[in-house]
Amino acid sequence: MKKFGLVLVGLVVVLPVLVGVADAGEATRRLVPAMFVLGDSTLDVGNNNHLKGQGVPRADKPFFGIDFPGGAMSTGRFSNGYNIADFIAKYLGFDRSPVAYLALKSRNYLIPGAMDRGVSFASAGAGILDSTNAGKNIPLSQQVRYMASTKAAMEAAKGTRKVSKLLADSFFLLGIGSNDIILSTAKTPGDIAALFTFLVSNYTVAITDLYGMGARNLGIINVGPVGCVPLVRVVNATGACNDGMNRLAMVLAAKIKSAVASLATSLPGLSYSLGDSFAFFQPIFANPQASGFLSVDTACCGSGRLGAEGVCMRNSRLCGNRDAYMFWDWVHSTQRVAELGAQALFQDGPAQVTAPISFKQLALLACKTCSMMTD
Ligand SMILES: *[C@@H]1O[C@H](CO)[C@@H](O)[C@H](O)[C@H]1NC(C)=O
Ligand SMILES: *[C@@H]1O[C@H](CO)[C@@H](O)[C@H](O)[C@H]1NC(C)=O
Repeated sequence: MKKFGLVLVGLVVVLPVLVGVADAGEATRRLVPAMFVLGDSTLDVGNNNHLKGQGVPRADKPFFGIDFPGGAMSTGRFSNGYNIADFIAKYLGFDRSPVAYLALKSRNYLIPGAMDRGVSFASAGAGILDSTNAGKNIPLSQQVRYMASTKAAMEAAKGTRKVSKLLADSFFLLGIGSNDIILSTAKTPGDIAALFTFLVSNYTVAITDLYGMGARNLGIINVGPVGCVPLVRVVNATGACNDGMNRLAMVLAAKIKSAVASLATSLPGLSYSLGDSFAFFQPIFANPQASGFLSVDTACCGSGRLGAEGVCMRNSRLCGNRDAYMFWDWVHSTQRVAELGAQALFQDGPAQVTAPISFKQLALLACKTCSMMTD
């Protein structure tokens, strides 16, 4: 009798939990089974916290994360809260970005993490070229190698068929190239031409390698107006954008756009959506108030002129209304900009940020059998 009572109590406790889980799953149905992220600080969710060395950029202290849901948390995101990888993940039906690769490794949780919702390899300071910020980040080529070893580990545990299907149905998010432009020392037309050649060919190799691993759906955030970040503006006495730097970024963005389009014709089954960051940012810079911004040139968290003469840290000056600032620190956007950016990528409006299809259309195409999946 006593035993029976215990079983009954157990059932009563377990049932509501199961119902709760089912409800939550229904409310946020995933468009894809997993998401894999490669890129720079705009997407990093904590990989750099696991890198050793003095010069490694880390967002592991206040005021980073001051608006992160659930209380102030410096998670490694270069933002006051969520970054654009988080908002893209939300549109895909996840609660936030997949966890950082090095965090999963350190918790011995890589395979379950990868199988359940994917992995983020993004690393602050990273470039398309290994030489960009060398030794202080995980460059794109190494992120691709980490993806290859993740795939191998998943296959060893779960079998090739299951992993191939997962990767083919997954959403691969890429966003990189700004650091290569900001830190470039190329001056002569010849050096600049060589830089573009290396950037485009290294990016092409990375995408081709991912395709070789079975990636079929790429959402790419293209290089944007890096000449307008406070760190660059502060060099100019008037606080103007560096037009030369923006021109370089614009040329690179155009070259990446045509390289990706040509890859999509040569690699069967590859689908992509390319987000044009210039198209997203230009209307905001031109008319900030229409998008709810009061400041488009000053870091919310920082020091000195334009908040751009020092990194964001615990004793920095902090702006009042963080949602009214485009820039969180001297380089990175606020959570509000990331939210609007993801919105533009998914629900493309008059600015025509994405081509040839939106991130949402890509996600809907990505997993043709997801609605039928039972396991
Ligand atoms: C990648 O860029 C580097 C320069 O940083 C260059 O030496 C290398 O050849 C490039 N790789 C490819 C495949 O273009
Ligand atoms: C500052 O910006 C203005 C406006 O873009 C430009 O004309 C000027 O050359 C810039 N000065 C420097 C030192 O870059």
